[in-house]
Amino acid sequence: MSTEPRTDRATVTLPQLAEMKRSGEPIVMVTAYDFPSAQVAEEASVDVVLVGDSAAMTVLGYESTLPVTLDEMIMLASATRRGLKTPLLVGDLPFGSYQGSDVQAVETATRFIKEAGCDAVKIEMAGVSGRLTDKRQSIDRARAIIAAGIPLMGHVGLTPQSVSVLGGYRSQGRTAQQAVQIADDAIALQEAGCFAIVFEAVPAAVAETIMERIEIPVIGIGAGPAVDGQVLVFHDMLGIYEGHQPRFVKRFAELKRAMVDGMESYAEEVRSGRFPSEEHTYPIEDAELQQFHEIVAPGRAWDVADFID
Ligand code: KIV
Repeated sequence: MSTEPRTDRATVTLPQLAEMKRSGEPIVMVTAYDFPSAQVAEEASVDVVLVGDSAAMTVLGYESTLPVTLDEMIMLASATRRGLKTPLLVGDLPFGSYQGSDVQAVETATRFIKEAGCDAVKIEMAGVSGRLTDKRQSIDRARAIIAAGIPLMGHVGLTPQSVSVLGGYRSQGRTAQQAVQIADDAIALQEAGCFAIVFEAVPAAVAETIMERIEIPVIGIGAGPAVDGQVLVFHDMLGIYEGHQPRFVKRFAELKRAMVDGMESYAEEVRSGRFPSEEHTYPIEDAELQQFHEIVAPGRAWDVADFID
């Protein structure tokens, strides 16, 4: 098993992800939400990019993922597409854009593919301890999207769109009863035809046990090391987002601090007159400048038509 990024940098495909699972090569997934974050993911050679509805909080400043609209997600996914060549691009269906009916789910998923250029979409399973009818409905939606020919990633465990049912952003599957539900959700999504599943905030030992029954790639976020790959939120892992930090977040950089430092230096140099210096200004030939001064000298009028070819 290699720890190096793939050097063949061909576009990542679903069969390739399945092959990575078979061969034990870890799958690297991150979220991205716009052109520059996509370019970072591209240059870092990640395998999968998710335009997560976490954008609601990290990019748009909402309190939860619930308010983000489909149009906002399509705009972010389109910008992300423009910054990516190689990773598989997955669009996250926001709350209220697929739960209504199978038709709604297929229409929403189709917009991510046709308008935003995503390769696949993701939906969350109705929350642990939610109603059985809601869980069955989630599986119906999954089947409908897949039957429409759209590759689908499932999401189980802590599913933030069910935050009210779950009673907050807390880890799931810490009782045998909950763990069975997560196992059941994952197996049902696999049977529905998902190409991969996200396990979020699930005890590592529970994830490891469920893995024995899952043949498709499992991407973990707070699910321990036994899964096939890991995903982290761009703003969490790079230290840009300062809101609630779940236990599973590891910060690999402190960009917010670096950005504030940089902007403070800029403000200080503007205020002290040190910026812009000569190297940041454009020159003009002396003769041209003198002619300009003569034309606009105080008390003189000019007709701009004389200066347009
Ligand atoms: O919205 C998101 O960022 C996600 C990931 C945490 C998997 O769903």
